[in-house]
Amino acid sequence: MKQNKTPAVSQGEILRQKNIIKSINSAFSSDGKIRKAFVETYGCQQNVSDSEVICGMLTDMGYIMTDSKEDADLILYNTCAVRENAELKVFGNLGALKHLKAKKEDLVICVCGCMMQQKDIQEQIKRKYRHVSLVFGTHSLYRFPELLSTVLFDGKRVFDISEDGVIAEELPISRQEGPCAWVSIMYGCNNFCTYCIVPHVRGRERSRDKNIILEEIRTLAAEGYKEITLLGQNVNSYGNDLEENIDFADLLSMVHEVEGIERIRFMTSHPKDISDKLIETMARLPKVCKQLHLPIQAGNNEVLRIMNRRYTKEAYLEKIAKIKEKMPGITLTSDIIVGFPGETNEQFLDTLDILEKVRYDTIFSFIYSRRPGTPAAKMEDVISPEDKKNNFNRLLEVQDRISKEINDGYVGRTEKVLVEGKSKTNPDTLAGRTEGGKIVNFTGDESVIGTFVDLKITESRTWSLVGELIK
Ligand code: 5AD
Ligand code: SF4
Repeated sequence: MKQNKTPAVSQGEILRQKNIIKSINSAFSSDGKIRKAFVETYGCQQNVSDSEVICGMLTDMGYIMTDSKEDADLILYNTCAVRENAELKVFGNLGALKHLKAKKEDLVICVCGCMMQQKDIQEQIKRKYRHVSLVFGTHSLYRFPELLSTVLFDGKRVFDISEDGVIAEELPISRQEGPCAWVSIMYGCNNFCTYCIVPHVRGRERSRDKNIILEEIRTLAAEGYKEITLLGQNVNSYGNDLEENIDFADLLSMVHEVEGIERIRFMTSHPKDISDKLIETMARLPKVCKQLHLPIQAGNNEVLRIMNRRYTKEAYLEKIAKIKEKMPGITLTSDIIVGFPGETNEQFLDTLDILEKVRYDTIFSFIYSRRPGTPAAKMEDVISPEDKKNNFNRLLEVQDRISKEINDGYVGRTEKVLVEGKSKTNPDTLAGRTEGGKIVNFTGDESVIGTFVDLKITESRTWSLVGELIK
């Protein structure tokens, strides 16, 4: 029998953190002062999910959430390390907070997340950003109450970079409004793609116990959530580290049994690990949305090899063909990196070829960003930055055309949409998603937020659709 490889944080330790939350709360209520917290999140959904835990803890401590930094007594940035520009933004933001701290001595500035799991970054903040009081990495999230309490009551600056590699359960969580919830099923990554910092800052794969996941989803259903997205860097390896014999397809079937949850999505899937069993399970289960994010990263086999992706273009296309055959009309999306070190202009053409062959609904594309400490950081470029930019623009052009062509095909169709809330771009309209995850904007009464509606698609854009309520 396999042994669970991942230690769980003991219930005693979680209780200790919860007691610290309580003591912060009573200290705050004793002076009757209202304290506000501003939390900003960078990066992927895992960070958004971590921030929901941070906000849950802060709320239990007695903080009220605010959108205004000027009003805040505590400012926290949850950071991303995947690309350099996200890191530069954080440094810029921290620099700009100096004057706020000068005006408000009690202001507590915290920074956490992937970027803070890097020693040299912590050192830099310690030396150059002396107005920052608390820095902690992804592994210490569950100890936030204790770390913050040291800052608040002992007046110390705290820098924590422990690498526990544990799973912490039953932490408070304050989710975003709406009918959709994110549920982490695992943390970390074992894949070590040569460009990627994630395994270095989030540690090895750690799967959550299925009973705890299912209980969380049942509670969400009872609270009225209708859609859940199962989250992990590579959900396809769920269970590999567990004593129990269970894989992601098994978990999906179990989640499907939860009454009240009507749509299930998941991300991200590594192409090398997507099994026939998973494809068949997805196709069989009606609540599992026919939408798949399957990042290819590049189209050339030599580039894929140096990226350590462990599949070829041909193997990837074979999987896509199987997926399309079992689930006709499935929405497919991908991540693409342009300008990986050593990629030639000719090799890049294979990436364009992939776009034409797969015809993704959308792609998330990035120009390669050098991440110190990863193997690719030492590799040499063979094309100029201008060539990279040109290739990137060509990629966007090709994909925009394909996205628009696919979306045009929706006009005239009726789509069942789960209404998530007001549209982010136009607050006079509502927005929801189709089963395939496409955003549809439409005019309607706010009372339909959180429900399913049938919409007739009247217009298509590159990134979204416009619809009309069918009475
Ligand atoms: N540079 C550019 N993009 C990157 N990604 C990961 N690391 C890098 C990097 N160093 C992209 C990959 C991944 C997505 C989340 O971010 O495409 O799938
Ligand atoms: Fe990074 Fe690759 Fe792991 Fe994705 S699978 S998080 S790209 S190392």
